[in-house]
Amino acid sequence: MNNNCIIVYESIYNGNTEKIAKTMAQTLGCKCIKPEEALKTDLSRFSAIGFGSGIYFGSHHPHLLEVVEKLDRNAQDVFIFSSHGAPVLGKYHRPIKSKLKEKGKNIVGEFSVRAYDETGPWVIIGGGNVGKPDEKDLKKATKFLKKSLAQHCMPDYYRQIKTKLLIKDGYPNDYQLIVKDANVVLKGDFVTINQSACRACGKCIKACPLGIIELIENKAVPVKELDCTLCSLCVNNCRERAISLHYNWRDAINVAKRHAKRESL
Ligand SMILES: Cc1cc2nc3c(=O)[nH]c(=O)nc-3n(C[C@H](O)[C@H](O)[C@H](O)COP(=O)(O)O)c2cc1C
Repeated sequence: MNNNCIIVYESIYNGNTEKIAKTMAQTLGCKCIKPEEALKTDLSRFSAIGFGSGIYFGSHHPHLLEVVEKLDRNAQDVFIFSSHGAPVLGKYHRPIKSKLKEKGKNIVGEFSVRAYDETGPWVIIGGGNVGKPDEKDLKKATKFLKKSLAQHCMPDYYRQIKTKLLIKDGYPNDYQLIVKDANVVLKGDFVTINQSACRACGKCIKACPLGIIELIENKAVPVKELDCTLCSLCVNNCRERAISLHYNWRDAINVAKRHAKRESL
């Protein structure tokens, strides 16, 4: 778990901003909380905080503004995000931005997407921005963070390995690499588990509906990774951010073929 960052969000209408907040939290490997919880949390201990909500009458949600008002005055990195219904964002970020500046915060970036809205004139045509935020928007959210908060994003060591080995059922490959003078050991290709980061909590094992991971010598090991259906439950349940999934379109099709015959878990 990334304890240096946190995301505070409000999403009262369609859960549009919640989708963005959750994707961002996954990219950073951090928690995302609602304003109610944020008011009970010491936000001064985080080095970066994201604030996001839908846009309601030209501004972020008042609950979010209340959290910002109660922040300590110190130089923390912050980013702002939102989802809005109008064709352009306009000056909707201005109220939260000026409050953050009053608190001495360093605004590292802003992100906004158009999202489903059936208020005002949209009602005539049965809603605007139907289906948004979509996958493309979520990818843009990830890209935004990788650019503006690169130092806080979850590192994917597997991508740094140049020579990948043949994947064999039951025998996850071992890879070793040196990161900042430390030895990092990875196991698996589809489901890669950073052995150096694993704390053997067993949450990934409990979460996986297909029994792909086992605890071996006090580390989580992807013993049946060819059976992985890419649901990401293991990734989302790993507080240490030790697990990552890797596949291309051909792998994804093979997964679908392998599982076509399955009738139950
Ligand atoms: C009460 C209300 C007021 C809104 N006001 C605006 C607005 O001023 N400008 C805009 O672009 N969208 C406006 N919207 C649309 C929302 O910003 C949009 O649907 C957003 O994605 C909602 O986010 P949420 O689902 O996370 O709550 C409004 C929606 C509601 C319900």
